[in-house]
Amino acid sequence: MREIAEKFLESSVKDAVITVPAYFNDSQRKATKDAGAIAGLNVIRIINEPTAAALAYGLQKRSNNVGKRNVFIFDLGGGTFDVSLLTFKDNNYEVKATSGDTHLGGEDFDNKMVNHLVKEFKRKNKVDINGNAKALRRLRTASEKAKRTLSFDTEATIDIDALYQGIDFTLSVTRAKFEQLNMDLFEKCLEIVESCFSDAKMDKSNIDDVVLVGGSSRIPKVQQLLKEFFEGKELYSSINPDEAVAYGAAIQAALLSEDVKNVPNLVLQDVTPLSLGVEIKGDVMDVVIPRNTPIPFKKTKNYKTTGDELSAVAIKVYEGERMIASENNLLGLFNLPVRRAPRGLPFQVCYTIDADGILNVSAEEESSGNKKDITITNENGRLSVDEIERMIKEAEFFKSEDMKHMEKVRAMNALND
Ligand SMILES: Nc1ncnc2c1ncn2[C@@H]1O[C@H](COP(=O)(O)OP(=O)(O)OP(=O)(O)O)[C@@H](O)[C@H]1O
Ligand SMILES: [Mg+2]
Repeated sequence: MREIAEKFLESSVKDAVITVPAYFNDSQRKATKDAGAIAGLNVIRIINEPTAAALAYGLQKRSNNVGKRNVFIFDLGGGTFDVSLLTFKDNNYEVKATSGDTHLGGEDFDNKMVNHLVKEFKRKNKVDINGNAKALRRLRTASEKAKRTLSFDTEATIDIDALYQGIDFTLSVTRAKFEQLNMDLFEKCLEIVESCFSDAKMDKSNIDDVVLVGGSSRIPKVQQLLKEFFEGKELYSSINPDEAVAYGAAIQAALLSEDVKNVPNLVLQDVTPLSLGVEIKGDVMDVVIPRNTPIPFKKTKNYKTTGDELSAVAIKVYEGERMIASENNLLGLFNLPVRRAPRGLPFQVCYTIDADGILNVSAEEESSGNKKDITITNENGRLSVDEIERMIKEAEFFKSEDMKHMEKVRAMNALND
């Protein structure tokens, strides 16, 4: 991606704003940031994709000089589904609520179609191609293509030569069939839309614009269901669903760069997608930062020890919406050494979420004078500085190796010619 951008801009690219699905959790964000570093980029900000799309929308609307508007962003991509509700006023964006599913998108629709085709092939030819990776891959490619066709045509033809054991496969799939295969998934999308509204405590009739983002938002049935949900409202269609997110990221990058002129003075207020908290006695989730809290954010909370003469307390940090702490996603844990004392010794835990949506937790027990700051490093998601360093080096190393290989191949081909 960096090379593509550099070629286009005819200059080197060092800094980047990277977008992530709004529903990405803490470790997924950290991993994304690390991936950016490994690619040799200085990641100046991680922003949520629907928020980025809203920036693109806002820039467009801004030129039309509109007042306060409530905007609903519906982003259905290849692998993830994201929705956000924003209020946009005088160049200020406030994210009211976000919701989504990190595993729902175009690939799931393709899978449904593949399963259907496998069944049809079996019915016609009495052979099962499940388990044959190559045949399945060809089916998947054909399914994705047919799916796209069905977004503007009511029928698509699958036609594959010698799919399996020399048998050709031809089948016509109607749009109605595709919709029937995926109806449960489409309905799931709508349920998520509903939940976003109940989180935001806003009625859907207050929405001024519904903005479609992501390739899969082109599916007519999805659009129809959404339109029905918004009681016949026309969907906003003057943004290219493939480009909106990248466009918004570019605006954010411009806002963060000092040397870019003519940037409108847009201000963005994003929110956390999941509740954050710690485990308290009895495996109970003590929510410290509820989901949809505006970021950046900082909060200190006081606790008391629940046992006598403890030498340390274990602090377990979770994210998620379950009341049973251990049912949520464990972000990290650490031991805070404390002064030996009867139960009830106070200690403090401080939570900070930065503008990238990344969490740091520190704890402190004042009376021991032991002001030891402990910051969570997520073992599952976070790579150490050394590891990143090593991976950057490796990537560079392999780049020159790869280049050598490429040159060799080129030379061989030239010789062959
Ligand atoms: N005309 C179309 N009709 C239906 N689906 C389409 C159409 N065009 C693209 N898609 C699907 O859209 C998906 C890609 O969308 P998009 O580029 O928004 O995803 P992404 O941003 O890469 O992924 P994600 O947002 O899930 O991380 C693919 O599954 C593709 O098959
Ligand atoms: Mg996307």
